[in-house]
Amino acid sequence: MFAEFEPDAHGEPVAALVRLATEMDLDACADLAQQRNGGERGTWRSRLAVDLADPEKLLVVVEVDGEVVGHAGAGWLSFDPELAVNVKDGWYLTGVVVAPSQRRRGLGRRLVQARLDWLAARADRAWYFAAAANQASLRLHRELGFSEVTRSFEVPGVSFTGGVGVLCVHHLPTPA
Ligand SMILES: CC(C)(COP(=O)(O)OP(=O)(O)OC[C@H]1O[C@@H](n2cnc3c(N)ncnc32)[C@H](O)[C@@H]1OP(=O)(O)O)[C@@H](O)C(=O)NCCC(=O)NCCS
Repeated sequence: MFAEFEPDAHGEPVAALVRLATEMDLDACADLAQQRNGGERGTWRSRLAVDLADPEKLLVVVEVDGEVVGHAGAGWLSFDPELAVNVKDGWYLTGVVVAPSQRRRGLGRRLVQARLDWLAARADRAWYFAAAANQASLRLHRELGFSEVTRSFEVPGVSFTGGVGVLCVHHLPTPA
């Protein structure tokens, strides 16, 4: 589910292409999502197809040697005010996954940065949340400018492995 937290292990960077996802990438993305999260591959594919068709959402993939080995999303999230606690409607990073065999090669960093670049044209801040237990993800996002806002929040429909989540924000540069 989460990558092992290995602060002292650093892999070799790899040449990669980060680009917008297309319909042709949905199978590969669904495979990665299912490997990471479990569940039905078809359900993941349908969800990803919905994101791809939504103009307020971004789906990016990373390719190594012509193969899609990671993907990541971003988009506007709005929450039921009756159920949400301490979270605001806004632009969120909505998940990133890199194939286990390709981790610690700088691909996660590229996928986060690509989404921040996209959001910078739309917003003055980007939000992200993760399980407190997902130290690899938190370190990656902290390194790229996210800072913790609170651990006392609730996102409707989301539960965190270990029971505790971390809500983080990144203040984006104002567009020129
Ligand atoms: C989190 C994830 C996307 C990181 O992808 P990645 O391609 O391995 O990340 P990068 O190689 O770009 O790492 C960039 C930096 O993030 C931090 N980092 C990434 N993985 C780490 C780990 N396992 N342990 C400690 N630090 C880590 C390091 O600071 C790293 O820099 P370094 O390698 O020079 O030390 C990947 O581990 C993954 O797919 N995990 C499962 C899915 C997941 O948890 N997604 C996040 C959901 S909120």
